[in-house]
Amino acid sequence: MESMAGKTAVVTGAASGIGRALVDECIAEGMNVVLADVEDQALDAVMASLAAVSSRVMAVRVNVADPQQVESLATQAVERFGNIHLLFNNAGVGAGTTIWDSTLEDWTWVMGVNLWGVIHGIRSFVPRMLAHGEPGYIVNTASIAGLTRSHHSASYGVTKHAVVALSEQLAAELERVGSNLRAAVLCPSWVNTRINESGRNRPAGLANTTPPPEPSSEMLKRWEDMQAVVAAATPASEIARFTFDGLRAGKFFLLPHPESFEWVRARFRAIENDF
Ligand SMILES: NC(=O)c1ccc[n+]([C@@H]2O[C@H](COP(=O)([O-])OP(=O)(O)OC[C@H]3O[C@@H](n4cnc5c(N)ncnc54)[C@H](O)[C@@H]3O)[C@@H](O)[C@H]2O)c1
Repeated sequence: MESMAGKTAVVTGAASGIGRALVDECIAEGMNVVLADVEDQALDAVMASLAAVSSRVMAVRVNVADPQQVESLATQAVERFGNIHLLFNNAGVGAGTTIWDSTLEDWTWVMGVNLWGVIHGIRSFVPRMLAHGEPGYIVNTASIAGLTRSHHSASYGVTKHAVVALSEQLAAELERVGSNLRAAVLCPSWVNTRINESGRNRPAGLANTTPPPEPSSEMLKRWEDMQAVVAAATPASEIARFTFDGLRAGKFFLLPHPESFEWVRARFRAIENDF
């Protein structure tokens, strides 16, 4: 995409963290932006802060795990702004511990938002974006946890690996049909956001029916360390700027933390050794 001014972006998870920062970048580029998020009050607060550009923004309350709500998001976005050019499938949550101690509700919630949310986004938006034929980008937020072994939450790592695979598949399919659309996958390491407070948006229907087993002291220590690491991590604004630079350069893998490459290399080394 050469110029983004006057084009339209949709950002899921737009009310906080990386999504919120992506919204600011879109506005700075002169784009219209549809802000989608499940958290009403946070969405209202963001919209209030964007009063100066109110004609270029629209908020839609959406649970990305629900295909009908994502389809309705697409309909509303097109009705308001016409063709969609940039889709950020960014909403995500983290929960649970090991594979066996994570509850079925943990698995269902995390898979619903992090994986199904991205699938629903692609299924509802890509056909509309292909139909208008103009250049565009679909950017899925995975994580460096999608390229490495996850040490924290099993379901989180599994969904992020799946989002990387989905994005690679999407890029190949878009190329194969000769479209003007491209795909990219954002794989950051730690970013200073509210990811550790994901539970604030957990639906009541997916609350744990039986309490999960007490986490091990090692797991608790990891959680504590993680709070400190996230608080001191890269500002989301830097990740958003990096993302736009990557899109302008036509990149697929958006990897804002070069220091994390050693973890990726370690995984590939293990694969290579076993070959
Ligand atoms: N923060 C990090 O260290 C980090 C690192 C790598 C990847 N990520 C990924 O970045 C993305 C954004 O997370 P963040 O770190 O900005 O966290 P965040 O909690 O600050 O923001 C996530 C946003 O997603 C929204 N959301 C949650 N469930 C939703 C649902 N069902 N439907 C619609 N919106 C929903 C939340 O309300 C929130 O506004 C996630 O996919 C996350 O996995 C984060």
